[in-house]
Amino acid sequence: MCGIVGYIGARETKGLLLEGLKELEYRGYDSAGIAVLQQGAFKSFKALGKLVNLEEKCANYATEGFAVGIGHTRWATHGKPTELNAHPHMGQFSYVVHNGIIENYQELKREMIEAGKTFLSQTDTEVIVHLFEYYFEQGMEAFEAFQATLARLEGAFAILLVTTSLSERIFFAKHGSPLIIGINAQHEKFFGSSDAALIGKCDQVIYLNDGEYGYLDPETIALFNKEHKPITPALCALPESKLSAQKEGYRFFMEKEIYEQSTVLSDAMLGRLGDGEILFEELDSAILEGIENVTFCSCGTSYHSALAASYLFERLAKIETHVAFASEFRYREPLLRKSTLFVVISQSGETADTLESLKMAKAAGLRTLAICNVDNSSMVRLSDYTILARAGIEKGVASTKAFATQVAVLWMLSLYFAKARGTMSREAIAAEITTLREVPAKTAVSDALHERTRRLSKRYLHGHGFFFIGRDVFYPLALEGALKLKEISYLHTEGYPSGEMKHGPIALADPELFTIALLPRHMLFDKAKSNVEELSARDATICVISSEPFEKADDFIPISTCNHYMLEFFEMMVALQLLSMEIAVRLGNDVDMPRNLAKSVTVE
Ligand code: F6R
Repeated sequence: MCGIVGYIGARETKGLLLEGLKELEYRGYDSAGIAVLQQGAFKSFKALGKLVNLEEKCANYATEGFAVGIGHTRWATHGKPTELNAHPHMGQFSYVVHNGIIENYQELKREMIEAGKTFLSQTDTEVIVHLFEYYFEQGMEAFEAFQATLARLEGAFAILLVTTSLSERIFFAKHGSPLIIGINAQHEKFFGSSDAALIGKCDQVIYLNDGEYGYLDPETIALFNKEHKPITPALCALPESKLSAQKEGYRFFMEKEIYEQSTVLSDAMLGRLGDGEILFEELDSAILEGIENVTFCSCGTSYHSALAASYLFERLAKIETHVAFASEFRYREPLLRKSTLFVVISQSGETADTLESLKMAKAAGLRTLAICNVDNSSMVRLSDYTILARAGIEKGVASTKAFATQVAVLWMLSLYFAKARGTMSREAIAAEITTLREVPAKTAVSDALHERTRRLSKRYLHGHGFFFIGRDVFYPLALEGALKLKEISYLHTEGYPSGEMKHGPIALADPELFTIALLPRHMLFDKAKSNVEELSARDATICVISSEPFEKADDFIPISTCNHYMLEFFEMMVALQLLSMEIAVRLGNDVDMPRNLAKSVTVE
């Protein structure tokens, strides 16, 4: 995810901006840049790749005396990772950095091009600086022009803007993406998109709320709420530990990433949920030309999202779908036909088996699509089409938010294909889109759910194994639940389709066998319930996750009632992740770096 820093003061500004950006490196990025305004003149540097490239570019530059500066690390969402697409973006006399996504940027871009503005990048961000300058040129004061710009933006953003027309000032706004102001006794002022960038530089911070905006200059902190009323900033002490700042108050990156899911799911959907249709600007109608079936190919957690997608694709888009483990696919001498759309799913975009399978499909002339979280990754570079998952960097080795965004993207893709293939009415697609919009709220972690999993975890530390069971899309979710727990608890777990238990595995049932049963109200409830009853009759220890209490279970994790099985899917996913994490915590394991595992598996 992108990072933002800003500085107003008399210290060497370039160095401070670079230091701040370094503290945000943990968030992941593919390019970086800074812009410094001193005595009415700008100096800006951008570089692709790591910060050291940026450092080299501006090695001979330094400020002396008062300056204002802004800096950014970019994780590409709109437009490739290139130097031109790196922030800060410039107009004629202003620069802007931005985190988040401007949903209506295309419409604004058209308007600005008609007004005579020239765009240099493919980003959504660039519209901000052109809008600002446009309003300024229309005769507005700089602050009025900034307000008028904000009023036009839809989506999520944290913005810093500097302009020569007021060269001691930084304009800022926060709406849906984090932004923090820092101050110190030397009257210096800082911005950071996370605490981590501010530690050691200032002692007091203002955590901005959504809708707040304003400007800072050496003497002023002007802060306004979303009703445009001036407000008094609430100052807080800044935490002292950098590592804990990176974890933003959570104990582990995995925990932070579980809690982030609600936000990254919104990011994954931003600009993609249209009026009765799904919009993927990354795709075009040629993607399905001559295509009769889809093969998904991936590993681990990404395989589980592929398997979940196979149910959605056949149900909604009525297209034949195959799912393959990349490590098997590579060597089975698969029949590769040009009527197959070959889809790889990968968080990293670098997993060796998936990448090699993609190369095989390319070599056989198949059309390829990557669903990936890392824009400049090998799979993205190789595929004909790419859809980014927009989960932001995932640090916990056990994947959580990448899985969540993959499933959301694949669900959207199944609806995109359903429209293209005419298998669903506009109304039916619109109803699914309404449900998709509810997903971020359903994945927000409630204290009650977290507390419940924490309390239950103490009963699931021993025994001779776990079965996670579910039907339909809840079967891949059961597989994913089993994988999560296995990875970080080192306990033996298996995922099974509920209906398969009686074909062998039920032989293991006894009080020391733990079964985590997924019982969605809106997908084969009665059938899945009978499967759990069969286990209960054999005295297995059962924990049910459902919106309906189930008297034959030993334990129960409640989820909220809703009207769609995919909402149950996402809420159960959070419950499973939390339960795994809490069990691993009680066992004293390293949650973020479990033994024997690596985050990116670049060997076969
Ligand atoms: C499990 C996990 C792994 C990865 C797998 C594929 O928590 O993270 O199973 O899903 O190694 O990795 P990507 O998605 O990067 O191809």
